[in-house]
Amino acid sequence: MNQDFFDEALTNRDEYFVSFAPGRIEFLGNHLDYNGGTVLGMAVNAGISCLGIPTNDSSISMSSEGLEDAVLLGKINCIVKQTGKYKWANYPLGVLQALQNRDLAPTKGFHLYYKSDLPTAIGLSSSAALELATAITLLQLAGKEIDPETLVTLCRDAENKFVGMPCGILDQGTSAFGKNNSLVKIDCRKEEYESIDLPQNTQAWIFDTGIKHDLVDSLYSVRHQECRAALSALNDRGSAIPHLSMVEKKVLQDANLNENLYKRATHVCEEQARVIQFCQGLESDMSSASLGKLLQESHHSSSLNFENSCKELDYLSELLNGHENVHGARLTGGGFGGAVMAWTEDCFNATAAQAISDKFEKRFKLKSKFYQFLPSNGARKETL
Ligand code: GLA
Repeated sequence: MNQDFFDEALTNRDEYFVSFAPGRIEFLGNHLDYNGGTVLGMAVNAGISCLGIPTNDSSISMSSEGLEDAVLLGKINCIVKQTGKYKWANYPLGVLQALQNRDLAPTKGFHLYYKSDLPTAIGLSSSAALELATAITLLQLAGKEIDPETLVTLCRDAENKFVGMPCGILDQGTSAFGKNNSLVKIDCRKEEYESIDLPQNTQAWIFDTGIKHDLVDSLYSVRHQECRAALSALNDRGSAIPHLSMVEKKVLQDANLNENLYKRATHVCEEQARVIQFCQGLESDMSSASLGKLLQESHHSSSLNFENSCKELDYLSELLNGHENVHGARLTGGGFGGAVMAWTEDCFNATAAQAISDKFEKRFKLKSKFYQFLPSNGARKETL
């Protein structure tokens, strides 16, 4: 952990608390979380650290390394939604409000300082990492403890209700429950979490298209509404399906939905089947190549049926899926730009990654940055 930014804040202070929350890769299960499905996430070895220092009055401040011109100043009992350059602070403010609503917030003021080694806006969920790191530091400042399940729902609520993003629990759940060398399997309907081991000698890579997405303003909310509309249309035709991920293929085929809703629901239904097959395959020692095919199919389905891909994501996936040392590659996260995740043999290296990135640059005149990550432990208190 680079300590400079924190060291400066800590001059002449002796009471402070620190936390760390990792970013995450959506491994498989695209847009299933808010449809009550089961998803597979991977917490990565990069994230956000939050230092909290108590004050003796009701003043609060939030500062982030690299955003020195956007330090938010305020009062603990006056939480106001921010715009413009202060927009980043809506995630911690939302968490503060969610804690206050549950009587878990500090009653006195504080300064919060953040630093991050997580690349932003490429679908690694820096927002969930920011929420979880904030919550863990504020809970320490308040002298309160909660279980990780509650931490996840509290942070998801902050994002749904205060930030206004209708996300599910994939991001917060993976960041909270990450484990070294494992995937986090989340049953989003029951809100249950499990670790499942990845095969030895495999790696995860992220290739960024360089296209920035802003999920709040993007088609994410439209897809969310379309999934709800598909579910109501199915139930209007006599089904009683609690969540779209639970629809059976046959029911869907017979329902005569309009083409758009049919495509969205087909993606959700088939993606859920792929997650189940992947988990069963891991248990029965299915080859990584066969497991990887499920990731490839996931990308095709996102592209054709869920329509949350773009030509840059499609091209990166095609290049990666054609590489002999890649088991499977697919868009990761909300989509509409952002990044492709590749699950590879451990002999896939920076030279191979650079060759893919060069081809991408040749086609789109845009650089694709790439990163290798390890499956890592979840959000936690830290010491300095
Ligand atoms: C974003 C959201 C998640 C999830 C994914 C798509 O990352 O924050 O909750 O819906 O998109 O699977």
